[in-house]
Amino acid sequence: MAIFHDVPRAVKERLATAERVAVLTGAGISAESGVPTFRGAEGLWKNFRPEELATPEAFEREPVTVWEWYDWRRGKVAPCQPNAGHQALVAMEKRVADFTLITQNVDGLHRLAGSTDPVELHGDIWLTRCTGCGAVAEDRTVPLEPIPPKCRCGAMLRPHIVWFGESLDMKKLGRAQQAAGDSDVFLVVGTSSVVWPAAGLSEVAAMSGATIIEINVEETPLTPMADVTLLGPAGYHLPRVVERCWPS
Ligand code: OAD
Repeated sequence: MAIFHDVPRAVKERLATAERVAVLTGAGISAESGVPTFRGAEGLWKNFRPEELATPEAFEREPVTVWEWYDWRRGKVAPCQPNAGHQALVAMEKRVADFTLITQNVDGLHRLAGSTDPVELHGDIWLTRCTGCGAVAEDRTVPLEPIPPKCRCGAMLRPHIVWFGESLDMKKLGRAQQAAGDSDVFLVVGTSSVVWPAAGLSEVAAMSGATIIEINVEETPLTPMADVTLLGPAGYHLPRVVERCWPS
C-alpha cells in the first residue's frame, strides 16, 4: 500500500504501457457533478440507509417510500452533467488498446460523457420495469406522477435497478469479471468498496496479477490491498493521470 496526493512515477510507468485496463467506478466519480453519494451524509434521504430502501422487501412493504426515494435521486441526477473525471475516462479509453469501464452507478453520466458501452452493473435510474408483465421502458419524468407509477398493463412499475439481495445480470457480471481478470491495471475510482460482488472485482484483478490503483477522497477497505492510492477528488486526479501517461 502506498498513498499519494499526486500522480507517482509508478502509476505513469504501469498505466502508460498497459495493454489492458479495466476501471471500476462508484458514486464518488459523480459527486463532483452534483450526484449525492450513498454513504456520505449528503446521500442519506430521510435518514434511511441505502440497504434499508434498495431491497425487494422494502419495495413490497412500502413501494411509495421506495419510489419517493428514487424520485428524489432522479431529481438530483436530472440536471447533472459529466465532469472532468468522466471525461478523462473517455480520453483513456481512446489511448488504451483494450479498455473496459465497469460502473456501479445508475446515473448514466459515463454514457453521456461519451464512454463506449460501459458495463452498468446496477442498472439505470431512468429505466422502469413492470412488476406484472416485465416490460422495461425509459421514463425521464421528474417528478414522477403518480407515485408509485403504473404500467399500461395496470401493474406497478419498479426501478430497473439491482437491489440488495437480488442477482446481478450474469452477462454483465461475467464481462466485468473477465475484464478484471485480464487487466494489467485495475483502476478503482470513487467507490467505498463495500458492496459485493462489485467490490470482489478488485480481488479478481489482484489475484490475476493486475496493478491496483485506487482514487478516492478517503481510505477504504481496498486501500491496504491497492498498490497505489491517490487521495483526492476523481475530477482532480483522473485528468492528471491521463495527461501524465499520455501527454497531449
Ligand atoms: P458510496 O456512497 O458507498 O461510496 C462513495 C465513495 O466515493 C466513498 O468512498 C467516498 O469517499 C468517495 N468519494 C466521494 N467523493 C469523491 C470524489 N470527488 N472523488 C473520488 N471519490 C469520492 O458509493 P458506491 O461505492 O458507489 O447500489 O456504492 C456502491 C453501491 O451501493 C451503489 O451502486 C448503490 C449503493 O447501494 C445500488 O443502488 C444497487
